[in-house]
Parts: sequence; structure tokens; C-alpha cells
Amino acid sequence: ASPKYRFFREQGLNPEQQLPSALIIGVKKGGTRALLEFIRIHPDVRAAGSEVHFFDKHYAKGFQWYRSKMPPTLEGQITIEKSPSYFITKEAPRRVQHMNPSTKLLVVVRNPVTRAISDYTQAISKKPDMKPFERLVFLNGSEKSPIDVSWGPVKLGVYARYLARWLKYFPLSQFLFVSGERLILDPALELRRVQDFFGLKRVVTEKHFYFNSTKGFPCLFKSEGHSAPHCLGKTKGRNHPYINPVVLQRLRDFYRPYNIRFYHMTGINFGWS
Ligand code: A3P
Repeated sequence: ASPKYRFFREQGLNPEQQLPSALIIGVKKGGTRALLEFIRIHPDVRAAGSEVHFFDKHYAKGFQWYRSKMPPTLEGQITIEKSPSYFITKEAPRRVQHMNPSTKLLVVVRNPVTRAISDYTQAISKKPDMKPFERLVFLNGSEKSPIDVSWGPVKLGVYARYLARWLKYFPLSQFLFVSGERLILDPALELRRVQDFFGLKRVVTEKHFYFNSTKGFPCLFKSEGHSAPHCLGKTKGRNHPYINPVVLQRLRDFYRPYNIRFYHMTGINFGWS
């Protein structure tokens, strides 16, 4: 057992691993790591550190296995996990409902155009010989052709399509949509919304954040496991390549109707188009 676990035991407390009561289900490149690192500062929130991928890759291993991946918690603490692939996994809504129909679902969303570029930037960092974004984004690689909706970075940004699947299993009231843009501009505000949604005391506030102008992102003064100020790792907040503005406009036009549908579904205007 970890030293912390032993400490709890010695205090007569009985920490136990619990299945998560809240999940950050997506979206990939929306800011899911930032959200998890920020909310887990709260003493009543305990998080699995790495992505568990239970509802997509490891479902056959069963709930015992899933629980064994969770941190020990005390009564009243919320267990949370994030695997951004859940949002787009067909079976995930039914499986999560089967685990617990009152699971709270957090979705960090971001302008799908920026999200696509972020996704591409991550992909090319792993596979440097990838074709340019401006070619992959179109069918036949040509600006004269339509947008290639089957290309992952484009496809994932059609949020309405994936949300529709989740809404067959969960009421809207169980979702919290976090703005990926505001999570960068005003993390304290988004974290206040998250804490209110969980019914938690507002512990994570302005005081925890500072803006690191070198990185260009908010960073933390201190948090669990870190006594010193720190930012997220190098893979979070990458420089994006320059994209031809004509291509960007095509993408904006492509997403507009889907964005509007998403605003109607969620009742929130995210201001992307
Ligand atoms: P970029 O690296 O393209 O800028 P995810 O964790 O879901 O993969 O999302 C990664 C994105 O989180 C980053 O994409 C970045 O824009 C965003 N982000 C939000 N807050 C951040 C923060 N405080 N530090 C670094 N990246 C942050």
C-alpha cells in the first residue's frame, strides 16, 4: 500500500477504491488534461492519473479491473477518470449507463477548426512524413473538392453527431460542457462551474493559477505532488503550423451548421461561428 493509504489506515479511516462517479469523456485535444489536472487540486476529488480506456479498449476486463485502476478515496470524495476517446466510442454511452446511470459527464469542447489543427499537430509530431493539413483536409487533396469528413481530425469536430448518441442514454442535466477556450482564458471561471456542478465547495480559484507568458497558457502555483509552480507537459500547448486562411474559411463554413446544431442541443452558444 502507498504511504498515503497507510496513513489513512492509521488514522482509523478506510480508503477504498471506487468506480468513478464522474468522467471526462472528451473531446480529444479539447483541453481534457488541463481540466483533469485543475479539478483534482480539489481535496474532495480523486483522479486516475493516466487514461484508463475502460469503456473503449478494456471493457471485457470487467468492473473489478476498472475499479482496481482507481485511486483510494474516502467517503464523500469524488472519483474521476478521463479518456477522451469515450466521447466518440459507439458502445460507451450504453456501457457507462450500465455502470451507473447517474454518472456525471464532462465534455471539454473547443472550436472544431482549432481542434482539428491541434489533432493534426499531435499526429505529425509522431509521424513527421504526414502530408500537409491543407491536402489531408480535402477529398483528393484538392481545394476544389469537398472537405474530407472521414479524416479523423475533421470527423471528430462534428460534436453534435456524437452527443446525439450520448443523449439517448443520459439526460442533458448530467452533462457539463466546459469551454476549451475559456479554460485557457479564465480557468478559474470554468473550474467554478465544474465545482458547482459537482456540488463541491469552491476551493479551486484564481489563487491557484498564473499565466505563464512563455508558454502562453495558464499554469499552476502548486498542486498535489508538486510543491513548486508548474505547467502542463511539453505535449500540451504545442505551436500550431500556419494554415492557409482560405482553407480555414472552408473549414469554418463546413462546421457552421454542425456547430449551430450543437448549440441547440446543449443550449449553449460557444461562439465559434
Ligand atoms: P494544443 O497543444 O494543440 O495547444 P488534451 O489534453 O485534451 O489533449 O488537449 C490539449 C490542449 O489543451 C492543448 O492543445 C491546449 O490548447 C489546451 N490547453 C488548455 N489549457 C491548457 C493549459 N493550461 N496548458 C496547456 N494546454 C492547455
